[in-house]
Amino acid sequence: MNKNYFITGTDTDVGKTFVSELLLKQLNESERVVGYKPIAAGADMTPSGLRNDDALILQNACREPAPYDQINPICFEQEIAPHIAAKINKAPISVGQLNQWWDTVKNNSELSLIEGAGGWRLPLNDTEHLSDFVQQQNMQVIVVVGMKLGCLNHALLTIEAIKSDGLHITGWVANQLATPMAHYQENLDYLTDVLEVPVLAEIKSNHRYVEGSALFSL
Ligand SMILES: Nc1ncnc2c1ncn2[C@@H]1O[C@H](COP(=O)(O)OP(=O)(O)OP(=O)(O)O)[C@@H](O)[C@H]1O
Ligand SMILES: [Mg+2]
Repeated sequence: MNKNYFITGTDTDVGKTFVSELLLKQLNESERVVGYKPIAAGADMTPSGLRNDDALILQNACREPAPYDQINPICFEQEIAPHIAAKINKAPISVGQLNQWWDTVKNNSELSLIEGAGGWRLPLNDTEHLSDFVQQQNMQVIVVVGMKLGCLNHALLTIEAIKSDGLHITGWVANQLATPMAHYQENLDYLTDVLEVPVLAEIKSNHRYVEGSALFSL
């Protein structure tokens, strides 16, 4: 049975890629794990086509990397909300398209990490969200909380929404980001007390290693 973890976050720029890269590098020491970035907005045109930094980071973190187009099937050049980029580029995106892509890659490794885009309720089009894909695939979810001012509200709402979508939350990761927030420890203690899901790891500023044993029993 393959294990698939969807990595979401409390917002954009909260460390989803940073945490996924650390996880991929460490998990790859014992098994083949592949990291995916199904939807990316913000990419450079190269001779091989559009390339997004997050997808390249995930690709490079794997011991046996998958081809770029498998890792990142939907990529827009503009760094804007994906559903707007889809309209501008006349390239609609949908849950159906993501389901089709996932069918072609899901058996490539025993463990997959799938990085979301933005936060939990990311629009794909006028009626669908990226969370609908996660729900239809019944993936387990890991929530990266970017520890900065505003994160308490974002964390509470994100966990509430994932639970009301009926999905299992493996746990959350406290990511301190490059600059520690004021009263970091009190914020961490509060979330640890109220979130009612396990803390998988606490990642300090600029750490290059995940110090959380729970992550290695994924
Ligand atoms: N613990 C950390 N220490 C130092 N820098 C960090 C840490 N976590 C994240 N960063 C930095 O913060 C920035 C945002 O992180 P990252 O790109 O991982 O966010 P993201 O949630 O994946 O964003 P997006 O929504 O664009 O995918 C990056 O420059 C990253 O290197
Ligand atoms: Mg990212």
